[in-house]
Amino acid sequence: MRYTVTSALPYANGPIHAGHLAGAYLPADIFVRYLRLKGEDVVFICGTDEHGTPITFRALKEGKSPREIVDYYHEHIKTTFERAKISFDYFGRTELPVHYRISQEFFLKALENGYLVKKMEKQAYCEHDKMFLPDRYVIGTCPYCGAEEQRGDQCEVCGHPLTPEKLINPRCNICGGSITFKDSAHYYIKMQEFQARLKEWIEKNEHWKSNVRNTVLGWINEGLEERAITRDLNWGIPVPLDEEDVKGKVLYVWFEAPIGYISITIEHFKRLGEQDKWKKHWLKGYDGETRIIHFIGKDNIPFHAIFWPAFLLSYGEFKDEKGKFDWLLPYDVPANEYLKLEGKKFSTSRNWAIWVHEFLDEFPADYLRYYLTAIMPETRDSDFNFADFKSKINDELVNNLGNFVHRALTFANRYFDGKVPERGELDDLDKEAFEEIERTFKDVSELILNYRFKDALKRVMELSAFGNRYFDYRKPWKTAKTDRARTATTVNVSLQIVKALGIVLEPFLPDASEKIWHLLNLEEVKVWRFRPLKEGHGVRKAEILFRKVEDEQIKNYIIKYFPENAVKDLLRKYFPRDYKELLKGKKEKKKVEEEKTMGYIKFDEFAKVDLRVGKIVEVSDHPNADKLYLVKVNLGDEVRQLVAGLKKYYKPEELLNHYVIVVTNLEPKKLRGVESQGMLLAADDGENVSLLLPDREIKLGARIR
Ligand code: 2FM
Ligand code: ZN
Repeated sequence: MRYTVTSALPYANGPIHAGHLAGAYLPADIFVRYLRLKGEDVVFICGTDEHGTPITFRALKEGKSPREIVDYYHEHIKTTFERAKISFDYFGRTELPVHYRISQEFFLKALENGYLVKKMEKQAYCEHDKMFLPDRYVIGTCPYCGAEEQRGDQCEVCGHPLTPEKLINPRCNICGGSITFKDSAHYYIKMQEFQARLKEWIEKNEHWKSNVRNTVLGWINEGLEERAITRDLNWGIPVPLDEEDVKGKVLYVWFEAPIGYISITIEHFKRLGEQDKWKKHWLKGYDGETRIIHFIGKDNIPFHAIFWPAFLLSYGEFKDEKGKFDWLLPYDVPANEYLKLEGKKFSTSRNWAIWVHEFLDEFPADYLRYYLTAIMPETRDSDFNFADFKSKINDELVNNLGNFVHRALTFANRYFDGKVPERGELDDLDKEAFEEIERTFKDVSELILNYRFKDALKRVMELSAFGNRYFDYRKPWKTAKTDRARTATTVNVSLQIVKALGIVLEPFLPDASEKIWHLLNLEEVKVWRFRPLKEGHGVRKAEILFRKVEDEQIKNYIIKYFPENAVKDLLRKYFPRDYKELLKGKKEKKKVEEEKTMGYIKFDEFAKVDLRVGKIVEVSDHPNADKLYLVKVNLGDEVRQLVAGLKKYYKPEELLNHYVIVVTNLEPKKLRGVESQGMLLAADDGENVSLLLPDREIKLGARIR
């Protein structure tokens, strides 16, 4: 079986929080890591969703351009996922050129196939802001559940997809004022034409989680209507038509974002030099059987289970030299429910969240992965709670798993010279241990394939608990003095359990699995199969796998990362006796603004740098370093000596008489014994270095601004 696994493309408009991670990324990662160990052909795709009102609205609020927002958050999010060990094969973005091309192609194909219709309809408009107000620019009351302050794309409370016209008592989300409706031309997809096919398809998908399947069937049975797939917005993928009345309009973000799964797969294989391989992952019958699995949070259900399949159908057949192929429809859309934080919904605006990049500054990735898997909101909402976090890490990870691995290795070193001892005759309990290993592999497989990650992890921990019970019962610290053969068997069997844990833990806790592999001194490739350690194989000295979470760390985390009022509540809850003291001594309070400055420096700070035009008048070798030159530069009214690492890239004669740009107000610094009085500016792409130059005659000493 071949697999195409995706996680919802996060909007590039803010950092990732633990709720996102537990919803669509961690479960997908566990699933994919497992499939890879099984040797399946799987590709794991994700990337940032960079268009639509979520981006423009954020840009407006921060006084930045949409481009600045998406460039910044793309990198931010990508790095965060890497730190959390989410192992995408490729993390792309919807700003890729290939994505523009394929999205426009989907639009044109749907048009050609008669599924689109252009209509002039009333659109929300704000007289004050002088603009059309798509989606998130309008707020009002949800007509389905009555929730107030909902945005015009989807109700956050009941999940129902919305449009601005549907909201009761709609208002402009920029100025808060009332809105009017004005005519605007848009393309609509005739969803009703897919109603029967979608219904039949979903009814057939009996392997879907029942919550997902039922919700979707409910919406389909309400009847599908035409839905606009273009928007009045100046940020996004242009509508690929030369028609006056849609000029300057863009494709609806929810039309093109899921197409991103395809375009990012294409980009991935192109980068690997396997241009056509993406087709096996997306086209029906192209080469054997493929399952497409979209991991999402529950708010994304209608878009993945109704609209997205309709878009795929509207394209019709894809043609290439091999023939004509239908697009594969999703095999499954495992959606998780919501994660809460201390009983309340995560809220970005109130900064009520566990931001993953912050959490990983304080705790190892495995701790976050362990805890989030242990409380994964698979069938109902669940709650992130600091006391629970601490006890799950300390009681389970440290006391059960870490302890068992440590004991087994300690005894191998203490009594058997760090070698896997010989196994004697196995009694029933020893045999039971091997059976327990086999059962664990089987059970965990089954649970993972059924998206029951929480139970799968629990099952892994049961193997470790079995190991501890086995060890306690055998008492090798006693038998060591009386029965060496028995002790050898005990330690051997324990080490086998450790090895099995090293494998079954990999999908959940890749770092711990890696450490166990290292401790066991194994170089063999990890695969989802148990092969016992050989007798006589040398292992390493025991090391502590996990350290306990201390109250102190939790206190500090709360103080450092939560907003003022929340700090009070949380400290009072967890540290009632000394919370007043704590509030007084608050140190290192993190500025919330930091997130908003997005790594920018202020203009004043930049203006402090004094950059000037100079000319190289002398080049010589550095007396004590073979990569460096000593370079004398004439800056008009003075000559300075600089030390520059250019030897690998330029010959002295290439540099002589060259114009350069010099940072003149850097603090002088000794480099290998010679003072450098400034710095030359050069571009560096990792392979090559190129000096920056003024491109025409200019006076030496001219200031760069
Ligand atoms: O809800 C979200 O964050 C969307 N950006 C998810 C898009 S998933 C896919 F369709 F791209
Ligand atoms: Zn609602």
